[in-house]
Amino acid sequence: MSMAVRKKRLTPSDITALKGERPIVSLTAYTTPIARLLDPHCDLLLVGDSLGMVLYGLPNTVGVTMEMMIAHGQAVMRGVEKACVTVDMPFGSYQESKEQAFRNAARLMQETGADSVKLEGGEEMAETVHFLTTRGVPVMGHVGLMPQQVNTSGGYRSLGRSEAEADKIRRDALAIGQSGAFSMIVEGTIEPLAREISTASPIPTIGIGASPACDGQVLVVDDMLGVFTDFKPRFVKHFASLAPQISKAAEDYAAEVKARTFPGQEHTFQIKKQPL
Ligand code: KIV
Repeated sequence: MSMAVRKKRLTPSDITALKGERPIVSLTAYTTPIARLLDPHCDLLLVGDSLGMVLYGLPNTVGVTMEMMIAHGQAVMRGVEKACVTVDMPFGSYQESKEQAFRNAARLMQETGADSVKLEGGEEMAETVHFLTTRGVPVMGHVGLMPQQVNTSGGYRSLGRSEAEADKIRRDALAIGQSGAFSMIVEGTIEPLAREISTASPIPTIGIGASPACDGQVLVVDDMLGVFTDFKPRFVKHFASLAPQISKAAEDYAAEVKARTFPGQEHTFQIKKQPL
């Protein structure tokens, strides 16, 4: 009898254990084919609620729903063999109470098969993170710039220049580091503060716009692939430039359709010749 060998995927504990060993490699993923391409190269794939802006054209992440996160979490899980997968808890699905957070985290894990969830928040969410992690839900924290709070924080900008701001982020990181979370995103934070937090934190910090001082890095995949022509913040590097390539491909396709040169005979079905 032959048994199919199931490749072992990295677990949240494996991610924690990478702290001090080597930098953690992470990208967002939202679909099966992209997850398949990223999986061999990444330790962790994040089904980020950034999908609201990247895929759905929403102005921010506030309008993202549980149903969206479940659909894209399922899609990513179909493409992954090796990486640990974390699904974002959308705005409004965890802030009300720890019981609400547990209900929705459990639903995300059960319906997607993902390994863990991520939620934004520092001191105010530490008790919730503890509640989840002591009940079987691995949690990734998210401190610094918190995109779900854009309507109260006054926009997207790097944080930590004033002592008050730095102190708040310091306290948030400390609280999440002690809450049972397996790792935490540090977003939009100046380098000295990111370094201080990363040195003090018992769990890995995964930075986005938070300098090389973090224990790992994450980027929104469409940003690093250069899909957007109108969005290139300082912290993003284009590792590819897909926007002009996609645009040129569409232009060539339109020209060939209009000239009737596509489809060619090699793309066309004919009646099969009967054998004599
Ligand atoms: O939603 C997301 O993609 C994120 C990353 C930016 C860390 O939270």
